[in-house]
Amino acid sequence: MNVADSELVAGILSDAGYKKAESIDSADIIIFNSCTVRQHAEDRVLGRITAEATRKEQNTNILIGLIGCVAQRKGEELLNEIKSLDFVVGTDQYRHLPEIISSCMNSKEHLFADVQNNIENYENIYPVRNKGVNAFVTIMRGCNNFCSYCIVPYVRGRERSRDHKEILFEIEQAGNDGFKDITLLGQNVNSYNDGKYTFPELLKETARVSSIERLRFVTSHPKDISDEVIKVMAAEPKLCEHLHLPMQSGSDRILEKMNRKYTPQKYLNIIHKLRNAMPNIAITTDVMVGFPGETEDDFIQTYNLMKEIRFDYAFMFKYSPREGTAAAEYPDQIQEEIRLARLQKLIDQQERITYEKYQEQIGRRVQVYVEKTSKKSDKELSGRTRDNKIAVFPSDSKLIGTFVDIEIVDATSWTLKGKQIQHT
Ligand code: 5AD
Ligand code: SF4
Repeated sequence: MNVADSELVAGILSDAGYKKAESIDSADIIIFNSCTVRQHAEDRVLGRITAEATRKEQNTNILIGLIGCVAQRKGEELLNEIKSLDFVVGTDQYRHLPEIISSCMNSKEHLFADVQNNIENYENIYPVRNKGVNAFVTIMRGCNNFCSYCIVPYVRGRERSRDHKEILFEIEQAGNDGFKDITLLGQNVNSYNDGKYTFPELLKETARVSSIERLRFVTSHPKDISDEVIKVMAAEPKLCEHLHLPMQSGSDRILEKMNRKYTPQKYLNIIHKLRNAMPNIAITTDVMVGFPGETEDDFIQTYNLMKEIRFDYAFMFKYSPREGTAAAEYPDQIQEEIRLARLQKLIDQQERITYEKYQEQIGRRVQVYVEKTSKKSDKELSGRTRDNKIAVFPSDSKLIGTFVDIEIVDATSWTLKGKQIQHT
């Protein structure tokens, strides 16, 4: 979401006449886009700003700004906390960035804009995308779910869906610009509704846009993913065999305290339906350990459910209390050492599973959308499979941006290695 928002802001600024700098060192204006979902993310961005402040001391013409969820959460307070910051702009106020930047330049004022309007959808702005072959297209913003640990509804405001016509137009254009693999984005895409189209209806239409080859979407909430979505995924050839479905916990009691509105059994049923409909589907997830009140038994249930499901990959986190959320007030917070130990145990298990899953791919024939030369050797190309795995294979760089069939001959826990299939 933040990559997409940065591209959106680049769109707003390039419409206003600004150009992207080659590097941070050559930039006159440095804008940090921030995430506050966990404390660690917030600490990192504040650390980066402080690091750039030294350069600003030597060149007072540089402007430094902060946008995104930390800006939204802390607002004006940040201008007092970090003297080198020139502007702080929250998630619904990016359209005002050009005026804010020019005011800062002209008057050396320090400005902030953090009014949350719950309606801004950034229509009619075409993002300036990073180079590559994959593009994100935002279909909705905000969230109404209020999972008890999560800061997102507070910093991104209420759920709002973009007009399906705008979305379809943007996808077609992205495809024409050479981005053939599109990811639809939203905090909870399954509740998309622009008054005319529901999510499965939108999916069906977008999967038929002629200028693109592949379509995916994130993030789905298990309480909202419908049989209809699974049906569309299985039926539409451009929809890829990959789903990211955050599980969060394998304990019924903890899921209830998290306000997730599904049980482990319901989650498992969705996995079965997905695998029945698409036997080769890759399923990835988000899981959290150390939520307030999580007992060893709750944790073991998470551990066991992950063992049973065998995700292709999992993003695993230790719970981080976010001020203002319900769970941050719960009395039974878990000690840091316990959170860390549980996280490590989960990571160890998942690494094994991911490794095995990648090994199982050996011998399969898959299609790769070639993105770039591989980091290790310029005689190898690197790309993504339809089920979102990175694959490398020896070939010529002129194949970048094309679709190539390979046979998997080897695998590590991160990468598939293949050889090109020569079609006769
Ligand atoms: N602490 C730890 N992880 C969190 N996430 C969201 N909020 C928190 C928090 N307070 C995780 C969830 C979510 C992912 C994007 O980040 O697993 O799915
Ligand atoms: Fe946060 Fe829950 Fe909304 Fe996801 S669905 S953004 S975890 S509140």
